[in-house]
Order: sequence, then structure tokens, then C-alpha cells
Amino acid sequence: MNVAVSQERPEEAAADLVVAGLYEGEEPPGELASAPGAGDAKGGFQKLTLLRPGQPERLLIVGLGKREEADPERIRLAAAVAAKEAAKLETPSVAWLLPECGDDEATAGALVTGTILAAYRFDRFKSSAPDQPPPAGIESLTLLAPQAVAGATEAARICAAAQNRARDLQSLPSNVATPSFLARHAREIASHHEGVTTEVLGREEIAAKEMGGLVAVSQGTAEEPKLIVMRYAGGGSGPTLGIVGKGVTFDTGGISLKPSASMHEMKMDMSGAAAVLEAVGAIAELGLAVELLAVVPATENMPSGTAIKPGDVITQYNGKTVEVNNTDAEGRLILADALAYAVELGAEQIVDLATLTGAVLMALGSTYAGLVCNDDELAGAVEAAGRESGELVWRLPLHPEYLELMKGTVADLTNTGAKRKAGTITAGAFLAEAVGETPWAHVDIAGTAWDVGRPYTGNDASGFGVRLLVELARELSA
Ligand code: BES
Ligand code: ZN
Ligand code: ZN
Repeated sequence: MNVAVSQERPEEAAADLVVAGLYEGEEPPGELASAPGAGDAKGGFQKLTLLRPGQPERLLIVGLGKREEADPERIRLAAAVAAKEAAKLETPSVAWLLPECGDDEATAGALVTGTILAAYRFDRFKSSAPDQPPPAGIESLTLLAPQAVAGATEAARICAAAQNRARDLQSLPSNVATPSFLARHAREIASHHEGVTTEVLGREEIAAKEMGGLVAVSQGTAEEPKLIVMRYAGGGSGPTLGIVGKGVTFDTGGISLKPSASMHEMKMDMSGAAAVLEAVGAIAELGLAVELLAVVPATENMPSGTAIKPGDVITQYNGKTVEVNNTDAEGRLILADALAYAVELGAEQIVDLATLTGAVLMALGSTYAGLVCNDDELAGAVEAAGRESGELVWRLPLHPEYLELMKGTVADLTNTGAKRKAGTITAGAFLAEAVGETPWAHVDIAGTAWDVGRPYTGNDASGFGVRLLVELARELSA
């Protein structure tokens, strides 16, 4: 989608659809108030009124609710309902009159984010009849706003486009989005950005490095696992930021097989990887002054004659032994290796994103991702990035007793506590063992990666984490 900023008046904007916000109990802004029918427009939050004043040809008034409740999230939601309406009206060019809502740059960014995310479709496997081409989506968005918001507008466009690419990766079926596909995709991202490099380890190299977790999970599948490492040399004086994403391209559960009803959703068990890879591209495109190291362990988790079995003992990359009592708790096994590897490669602060536990969905639903963190300062930074980006996280406690639940009977650790207590935290406690003293934040996105249900995410892949990671990198580079 093309995004531009213009100082045209809404009456003269050359767009198929002009959109303006309206606060409850107020009049439409400026001269739009005198457009025929404008007096009947509703200001209730997300209410829509379509007028045909002639100049502009079509005017969509979007209710912004109470002025005192307005914030960037409400602007994203309002932008999303307007974008859906534009799609229905089949108006390829849209101009949005920037509403008054505190900081203009944040408002402009929220409008762009809400519009681009809401306009997303995943239809590449749909064949369309030649006489019935698919309806054209929004091709251009113009913000009628002061030129000063141009930078924030472009930054939001870059992030939202990257987030939509992450949604593509999530939505692709596992027979397309294999670990090798993700590795090729990482190389492709690197080829588009100066300062980004990629290195990929295959099955033999992973085994040679004795990454026992990744070896164990991938031994049940014919599909070659990949350990993808990306670096972005953006400079800056801050610590090297490590970002790690769970890349299970399909999680059957392995021998501890999942029930079949929702198993197809597990093509998205690589949502953490998708967000991490696309965040690298976005951070590089934005040219943020940060040293970035991304590590993505990618594999399928399959049952087979060669698969790991419940009770088997493995040795992780950091030397710790683990009883694999449930082969469906595979994410922590591959992440523990990736986290220890990230520390070895020089990450000084690490954030990992993973669709790790069903328990986080019980605890926080799809509104907040779960945060488990060994460092108060980093936790504060991730929470702040969440508030700023709208990708919210809620911190869960990391008490030493949780690690007790993960002690093994015959090995150092088990990958599943005998009692199903605090599933999200105990998974975090397991991961904490892999990073030692390095400040580390684990973001469990099992509840937020899909089926979120907001107007700008819909119920499919959400691309959660791209904006969060970009915002965190921006904070660290400031
Ligand atoms: N990929 C799943 C977690 C998941 C579940 C993500 C639902 C999204 C939606 C993960 O590998 C898993 O199966 N975790 C188990 C852990 C348990 C065996 C300790 C779970 O959450 O049930
Ligand atoms: Zn699993
Ligand atoms: Zn999984």
C-alpha cells in the first residue's frame, strides 16, 4: 500500500473515499460539518456514517467515541473499521483527515498501522475465475496532516508491511513453509538490506555442535532442521540485542500426539520465528542504530520410528541433561539450545518469542502475551514497548519454586512438570536455565499469534511481535 502525507483540505482531496473521525457529542471537523447529512453522523466508537457530499465524492465519518478515552489503540481500531468499509465500497484510494488525539505522530502511525493490517488478506491459494477478478483492495492511503508526521507515517508503514509478511509466513501451510523455506526467506531478507547477514546450520552441523534439544525434536522428521542466525550491524552504543523465535513449522506433538481437532493450527507454531525474521528486516529498513543478533531454531515435531520418546534423556547445548517426559513440550528444547547459542554469539540482552504453552491462553487470553523475565529493567523495557506498540505483554513471576517443579528424576531437568501447575511460568523457568546471568525476556505468544479477533488482526494470523520487537530496538537505540 502506498502511504503519503498531504496538506490538501478534505473537500479537495483526490481520493475515492475521504475519512474523518468524529468524537461523541461533537461536530465533524472543519468545513465537513456543513456537508449535507453531517449533522446526523454518529460519534459512538466505531460507528460509521457514509455521506455523498459531492466534494469530496464519498465521505466516511468514523465514530471515535469519547474524546477523553481516545488513544492510539482506539485510532488503530477506528482505522481498521474504516479500511473494512473501504474494501466493501471498493475504493482503492483513501484519504484520512488526521484526528486530534494527543501526539500527532503517534496518531498518524496508528492510522497507518490500523489501515495496513486491516487490509491484509491471505488468498494466494485461491484461484479466481477469469471473469470474476478478486476485488481490488486499498492501494493508497493519504493522511491529510501536517508534513511533520511524514517520518512517523513511513516508519509505521514499514512495520505494518513487515507484520503482514510475518502473517504470510504464519499462514503458509507446513508443506510450503518448511525450515528450509524459512532459511531461504531469511537469506532473501538479508539480500534486501545492507548490514544484514545470514548463516544457516543444517542437520549435520546442528548435530556436530551437539545442540541436543534441536537434534531430539528434529530426529522424528525427514524434513531437514535449520538453525538460522541473522545479524544486523546498525552500530549504536547500546548492548547487542538478541532476538530468538520458536520455529516449529508443524507441531504434531510427536509421540505425545496432539488431538486432531485443532492440529492444523500448529502450522503456526513458527509464529515467533516469523516475527523475529521480519523484525530484522524492519529494523534494518528503518536503519535503527542497534546491534542485532537473531537466532531461529526451525524444525518439524513429528512422530515416527526415529522420533524421541517420552522418558528419553537428552543433553542440551549448555550441557544440562533433560528427561523428555512429553514430546509435545518441544519448543523449550529447541529454544534452550538457541538461547545458549545466542549468549555464546555475543547477545547481551535477549528477547525470545514463542508459541510455547496453551496455558498462556488460559491465563491471559488473546489480549496480552505472557512475559517471563529474569531482569526488572529489561522487563520494564519490554512492557513499555508493548504499551507503545499496542502489542501488550503482562509479566508473570519467576520464583525459584517454579524451577523446582522442573527438576528431573534421573536427569537435571524435565521438560514437563509432573503436576500441571503454572504451565507458562514453568516453561519460562526451564528456559531461564539456558541464559545464565544474561538479561532475558521470554514472551509467550501462544494466545496472541492468531485468533485475536480485533478489527485489524481478524481471527487468522496476527503477526504479533514485529511491532513489539521494532519498538524495543528503537528504545535501545535511542
Ligand atoms: N505449540 C504448543 C503450544 C500451543 C498450544 C500453541 C496451543 C498455541 C496454541 C506447544 O509445543 C505445546 O504443545 N505445549 C504443551 C506443553 C505441555 C505438554 C507441558 C501445552 O501447552 O499443552
Ligand atoms: Zn508441542
Ligand atoms: Zn509447539
